[in-house]
Amino acid sequence: MNQLSTEEKSNLPRHVALIMDGNGRWAKSRKMPRLFGHRNGVENVRAVVNAAKEVGVPYITLYAFSTENQNRPKDEKSGLMKLLEEFLKKELRSMMEDGIRLRAIGDLSGLPPFARRIVEDTIEQTKGNKNWNLTLALNYGSRQEVLHAIARYGQDNPSSTGVPSWEEFSPYLQTAGLPDPDLIIRTSGEFRLSNFLLLQAAYAEIFVSPLHWPDFGRDAFLDALGNYARRERRFGKTSEQIQQPAHLS
Ligand code: FPP
Repeated sequence: MNQLSTEEKSNLPRHVALIMDGNGRWAKSRKMPRLFGHRNGVENVRAVVNAAKEVGVPYITLYAFSTENQNRPKDEKSGLMKLLEEFLKKELRSMMEDGIRLRAIGDLSGLPPFARRIVEDTIEQTKGNKNWNLTLALNYGSRQEVLHAIARYGQDNPSSTGVPSWEEFSPYLQTAGLPDPDLIIRTSGEFRLSNFLLLQAAYAEIFVSPLHWPDFGRDAFLDALGNYARRERRFGKTSEQIQQPAHLS
């Protein structure tokens, strides 16, 4: 059983965003249909969310369905939406008991009505929960998010001619209210962000695991957290500046 050292525990990310890749390949290697991979992928969502609670990572964001995933075969898309519905129905009780607040980013109007309804209902029912934060990216694309944010910023600030500060602009992103991700994990050995949180990831550490998502369980997640905890995040500064007390840097 994997354990983090005390030092690692003191340097955990606050927000981990995960690109859950490889469900299809995982199923294919077992000569099973792709949905079998997605079903096992959902089981793994539970394992990773539990591990995040176990060690104290308060924000988890999952790339569950991208705008590009709309191009997948109809059966796969409807299967994924049913899995999402099943997951939210089953988890509502434990989300309320554990104090997990659900949020969604992405264009929910592009989901089938039954899926949109349960997502919105769960968001509403959990909105007072304060212990943990689970965000699902659903029909999400970062470029689309940014273009919408620019349009809305322009509507709210019609006479502004200058360049807004990040603090002025970022509330227009769908991630308003969430801290930027500290760590982005992608499974299946792919080194890409695939239109996920492109601006929010400006200073994120990236961890790529060779494991397919259904195999990336609790221990692999804790390994990734340990790896993150041992890194030095410099935010553009030098190593010496980072190690100095703040008032001298
Ligand atoms: C990538 O594997 C995975 C997806 C496109 C969907 C991820 C969704 C889930 C795990 C289930 C829904 C989530 C929740 C929270 C209920 P892939 O199909 O691209 O795999 P491949 O690259 O091997 O084909």
